[in-house]
Amino acid sequence: MAKFIVEQSGALRGEVEVSGSKNAVLPILAATLLSEGICEISDVPRLRDVEVMCKILRSMGASVTEDWDNHTITVEIDKVTTDEVPYELVKRMRASIFVMGPLLARTGKARIALPGGCSIGDRPIDLHNKGLRTLGAKIDMDMGLVEATSKKLKGALVYLDFPSVGATENIMMAATLAEGTTMIENAAEEPEIVDLANFLNKMGAKIKGAGTDNIRIEGVTCLHGTKHAVIPDRIETGTFMIAAAITRGDILIKNCVPDHVKPIIAKLMECGATVNDEVEGLRVRGDIKKLIATDIKTMPYPGFPTDMQALFMALLSTVDGASAIIETVFENRFMHAAELSRMGANIKVDGRTAIVPGKNPLVGAQVISTDLRAGAALVLAGLVAKGKTEISEIYHIERGYDSFSEKLISLGAKITRVED
Ligand code: EPZ
Repeated sequence: MAKFIVEQSGALRGEVEVSGSKNAVLPILAATLLSEGICEISDVPRLRDVEVMCKILRSMGASVTEDWDNHTITVEIDKVTTDEVPYELVKRMRASIFVMGPLLARTGKARIALPGGCSIGDRPIDLHNKGLRTLGAKIDMDMGLVEATSKKLKGALVYLDFPSVGATENIMMAATLAEGTTMIENAAEEPEIVDLANFLNKMGAKIKGAGTDNIRIEGVTCLHGTKHAVIPDRIETGTFMIAAAITRGDILIKNCVPDHVKPIIAKLMECGATVNDEVEGLRVRGDIKKLIATDIKTMPYPGFPTDMQALFMALLSTVDGASAIIETVFENRFMHAAELSRMGANIKVDGRTAIVPGKNPLVGAQVISTDLRAGAALVLAGLVAKGKTEISEIYHIERGYDSFSEKLISLGAKITRVED
């Protein structure tokens, strides 16, 4: 298994280009199952998760062409040949659950191995099921399998107990081919949901209100092919913003949407970093003022994103003063705290609150990447830690970042990828 050897690298400087969004492209690829035409999706990030989603689509009878010179994937599904997603693929990626809504809407049947929990939480799918049941689906969960059937989905009012991103996306996709109108109330408002709705509307769907907590979907009889460019990845954008601050560097982040990272900009400026929206992109500098502590509370969008929590914890381990971090979205998303403490951060975790004392100079150590964002946080911490940091299980990082180490190296980082 591969690992990263990261050395203290000084201030990172230069320009970096953000790739397309992982959390937008995965549901968009799943949504191609709804189309009876050819879908051409561009600005696709080259990620392990994207490869898995392409495998899932091929296993269902799709012809999928990957053109990585142009970061474009073309999908055509004349006939869905199976309604089952094999466990081998589901266990590699929770986002496999995104095919449930489209499969059910297109074929009237979907059988998916339950994704199960991961290191950040149990991650149940009860809200997905509740929403699809409200549209008239029969859902059985047995022996680790969820089986959904429906002769014809019917539009209805779906109230979400929690604004789940995945449940909002699955229900929205299913409702596009339902009979009548569906309203999703207390819906999630993430930019990735807006991008998915824009893709669906280009295929002929009738969706209004995506990006608000009330989404209205008027069912249509069929969807056609289209072309769509995926939005830039706001979490990758945030990751490079932290890279500039934590190394006290100066980075221009290109191909990003400042509106999508407002909570990250606000918190970075509270810490004393400067963030300027320039013509070519966002310029983040951590070399102007002394960085200080601030408190973080993760919330659904437009609140502070949980996916940035680990990265911010790494930064707050290097500033002056103590910070409190409250994680409200996932019940077990502090695994990185123990790894950062191996590097001297001395973080105290109590339930969903972590206290980061700051002021402790970080020292290189052997650490484990426990999930995607935790892994990226350890890489950034390694860039400022004295000596070498050895990060294992980096496959987590490669699931969600396109050319992460290459981009950091282009900014001056000292990182080596070694096969164990
Ligand atoms: C999406 O996951 C993202 N993944 C996650 O990004 C992100 O952390 C999360 O949204 C929150 O922003 C993708 O888009 C592929 P949720 P998702 O449903 O859809 C509970 C990353 O690092 N819940 O909004 O799974 C759930 O357990 C990943 O890129 C239920 O209880 O998130 C969690 O505590 C990690 N029942 C909370 O809601 C349900 O049926 C939020 O989950 C569904 C969710």
